[in-house]
Amino acid sequence: MSREVVAILDFGSQYGQLIARRVREQNVFSRICRADISAQELSKMPLKGLILSGGPASVYDKNAIKCDEKIFELDVPILGICYGMQLACQILGAKIVPAERREYGRTNLSILDKSDLFASLPESITAWASHGDQIEDLGGDFVKLASTETCPFAAVRHKKKKFFGVQFHPEVSHTPKGSQILENFLYDICGCAGDWKMSDFAGETVEAVRKQVGSDTVICGLSGGVDSSVVASLVHKSIGDQLVCIFVDNGLLRKNEREHVVSTFRNHFHMDLRVVDWSEQFLAGLKGVIEPQQKRKIIGAEFIKAFESEAAKIPNAKFLAQGTLYPDVIESGSKDGNPAANIKLHHNVGGLPEELGFDLVEPLRDLFKDEVRTVGEYLGLPEDIVWRHPFPGPGLAVRIVGDVTPQRLEILRAADEILIDEIKSAGLYRKISQALAVLLPISTVGVMGDERSYENVVAIRAVETVDFMTADFSRIPYEVLGIISNRIINEVRGVNRVVYDTSSKPPATIEWE
Ligand code: XMP
Repeated sequence: MSREVVAILDFGSQYGQLIARRVREQNVFSRICRADISAQELSKMPLKGLILSGGPASVYDKNAIKCDEKIFELDVPILGICYGMQLACQILGAKIVPAERREYGRTNLSILDKSDLFASLPESITAWASHGDQIEDLGGDFVKLASTETCPFAAVRHKKKKFFGVQFHPEVSHTPKGSQILENFLYDICGCAGDWKMSDFAGETVEAVRKQVGSDTVICGLSGGVDSSVVASLVHKSIGDQLVCIFVDNGLLRKNEREHVVSTFRNHFHMDLRVVDWSEQFLAGLKGVIEPQQKRKIIGAEFIKAFESEAAKIPNAKFLAQGTLYPDVIESGSKDGNPAANIKLHHNVGGLPEELGFDLVEPLRDLFKDEVRTVGEYLGLPEDIVWRHPFPGPGLAVRIVGDVTPQRLEILRAADEILIDEIKSAGLYRKISQALAVLLPISTVGVMGDERSYENVVAIRAVETVDFMTADFSRIPYEVLGIISNRIINEVRGVNRVVYDTSSKPPATIEWE
């Protein structure tokens, strides 16, 4: 790889991925590495700079994660953030102690030196801090660049080495001038050229896939979600008809979903798209099953069978294209400290086992989700695919609490369609990260006309989140909720009550099952 890279050594910070994304937003490619990666390993990269992240430990903890001290001999600038600053300063001769007054949240940073890291900034800025330790004695080798009321050395520069440290977090949005600080570091201090652009990425990746695949056939499981759609489009751009896409209709899809995928990819993009209707098998397998993990197991196993049966009809297929993203492959922490590998977010239903024997084509391995969307836009995918909310592999089966039957699927499909329709009409679809309807396994009493009814309850869930690991419920205006509720109760036979889920994650999850 020839592209310039800024490596982020992750000491277990909750903001590690955020730092990486902020750097990429400045058109500089960033890679998250384990904190204890060796300087030798780093020197093999076309490295322009290093960022040492924050972390939960204190530098004087027995088990505190350390870095290879030889990184300070690499000829690249280093920015230490919070713990990363303290660790580097300790290695370079400063003394760190527990602060008398800890600093959490908003703080006022007085800037004393604007010659490099803080160039073009005002004398005083708002910054976000989160630390219990701080530097007590700088030693003789540092210059103080900024301070806060309780933290005298809130930012420093080393006199001889190209090291900068900030005690606050420039990567979070609560430090409004943070991106200017990162820009100063990346461009003025590291001398980056800014060669990370999604249009270039798409072009290079199309070329790389062509080279990897040669004249062989590639299979791609296409769900119609953002990731698999972008993978299919990229690979199709590379190799055209050598790509065969397989769409499995599991009978658990949303209304018109299959037709939509067919019309987009077969009719519009002219891809070789094979549709496997396996819905009977899925529904037969799920009959009477109410335990969510059991549902997932059954669906996962059926998916593999459906996929294999179709793949067997494609002779000479050597490769499988998959939408693996960067957060799935990041290794952070250290060998002995934190868990080495980032545990994959989800149950991975809809995944395929390695035993299928294909070589993998994973063109999105280096991308964050927002970058995948940018590539999707660049490739000309329609907006409703690029900005689609995630939809779980097990589909509506995990949104019908209890037994999954064709009748209950019909009810949920109709409710889901109204929900999404109204959220879009209200202009809220992009603000909400994921919206869903859930069919509950209880009936409640109502009156319809003069009759007493005893019918189903639909729960509406809408969340806002960045990474789907934590989420808050979306504050949908009451008026919009009213329209959704009214339409569902009036238009969907079998529902007489709609409720809104106001739980955050944690402790609740996004899905109900
Ligand atoms: P939870 O419910 O765990 O969901 O808060 C987090 C995100 O993961 C999606 N999800 C799944 N995706 N297979 C998937 O492919 C699954 O079994 C599954 N369960 C949940 C969920 O929709 C949300 O985006």
